[in-house]
This record gives sequence, structure tokens and C-alpha cells, in this order.
Amino acid sequence: MQIAIDGPAGAGKSTIAKIIAKELGILYLDTGAMYRAITYGIWKNKIDFSDQKAIADFTKENTIDFKGTDVYLSGEKVTEEIRLPIVSRHTSDVACIGEVRRLLVGQQQSIAGCHSVIMDGRDIGSVVLPKADYKFYLDASIDERARRRAIEQQARGIDQDFDSIRESIAVRDYNDSHRDEGPLVCTEDAIVVDTTGKSIEEVCQVILDNIRGGKAHVL
Ligand code: CDP
Ligand code: CDP
Repeated sequence: MQIAIDGPAGAGKSTIAKIIAKELGILYLDTGAMYRAITYGIWKNKIDFSDQKAIADFTKENTIDFKGTDVYLSGEKVTEEIRLPIVSRHTSDVACIGEVRRLLVGQQQSIAGCHSVIMDGRDIGSVVLPKADYKFYLDASIDERARRRAIEQQARGIDQDFDSIRESIAVRDYNDSHRDEGPLVCTEDAIVVDTTGKSIEEVCQVILDNIRGGKAHVL
């Protein structure tokens, strides 16, 4: 089984996908964490964010692994580091590089080739799993998405004010929607779920109703 979840930052994709994966007993793959891990490595190694060749080479030469809820970049645990504001700011610069996308999409597709999987990202329904059994596009107002992210950053002990989070999300959404390769799109066959004002449980229920063929309703 293949399930694709796409949508802008803070729409609730990873939270929902993790719960659905557990519920259905299938693998969850956080593709955003892969782009973030490469971005963290580029920053840590002081590679220029405008040097697309060096970034593509770095992507080729390093490995990304998931163990439980942890993310590793060439053996180094980077679970917390990939959520730093500096990483969030630069991930869309890295994610717009065609060669980087081809490499990571290839890895994502080979995982889907041998596991039932739910993946979240920006190009899952359009590029990574175009034949997915189910495609969902989660959305929410920008204020709600920024509020959610602000609460999260606070809990992580990262000091970032609401306005800068909102601005960073808006810039990232714009960049993600306007790049040439694998832009954020809502495919025609995706079920759109507006999560504004909705609890995590309510959103999960809509998704599970659709998957199980029950009486589905789009929020
Ligand atoms: O969790 P959040 O929505 O903030 O972002 P994420 O899913 O962790 O993804 C971080 C960034 O990676 C996005 O803003 C995109 O630039 C990039 N990304 C992508 O280009 N394609 C994907 N399939 C997933 C993420
Ligand atoms: O993966 P994405 O960037 O789309 O969003 P997320 O990281 O799953 O969700 C961002 C935050 O919003 C998390 O802290 C969730 O607990 C919260 N959330 C929520 O409050 N209500 C929802 N319906 C979905 C997510």
C-alpha cells in the first residue's frame, strides 16, 4: 500500500502520517527530514548554499538513515539539529536543486518498492508516488500553521518569535510552490483536507474513513 501526504509547512502532515502508519502497521517516511538532513550537513560543513554542484556532491557522498524516531546523516544523529531555524530557512534552497531531488526521490522510491508506506512531503503524490493508492493534501491557514510551529519550537527550547516563524513559513511555501522540479502541488486526484481549527484526531478520522472506504467527508 502506498499513501501520499502533501501540503505546506505546518499543515500537520508528519503528525498525522505517523499516527496513520501506526494504525495501519505500515512504514512512515518523513521525506522533509531527508532534505533537512542534507541542509544541516551543508551548513555544518560550511558549504556555500549557492554552490549547487558542491551540494549535489555532498548529497551523493552522504547517507541518510532513520532508526525509530531518530534521523542520522552518515552515522551522526541529527534529529534535533535538522529542526534549527537556520536549517528551516535554507532547506528550500537545497530542495530546488534538480540533482539533489533526483537522488532523494530515487531513495524514497526504492523504499516504497519494498515496503507498504505512508510518505509526507511536497512532491509525493505528483513525483515520488504518482500511482499511490491514496493521496491527501493537507492545508491550514498560515496563521494557524505558524501558531502550531511556534508552540513546537518553544517546547524544543528554540527561541523564535511568531512573526519570524510566520515569515519563514511564507517564504518557504512560496519557494516550494514555485520551483521548477517537484514543486508543491495539489494533484487532481488528491483528497483535500483543510485542518484549520481541527484536532489531530478529527483529521486522522477523515483520512482513515477514506482509506477504509467508510463514509468519508472532506473537512
Ligand atoms: O515540516 P515542515 O512542513 O516544516 O517541512 P518539512 O516537511 O520538514 O520539509 C522541509 C523542506 O524540505 C520543505 O520546505 C521543502 O523545501 C523540502 N521538501 C521538499 O522539497 N520535498 C519534499 N518531498 C519534502 C520536503
Ligand atoms: O509536517 P507538517 O509540517 O505539515 O506539520 P506537523 O509538523 O505534523 O504539525 C505541526 C504542529 O501542528 C505539530 O506540533 C502538531 O501537533 C500540530 N497540529 C495540530 O495542532 N493540529 C492538527 N490538526 C495537526 C497538527
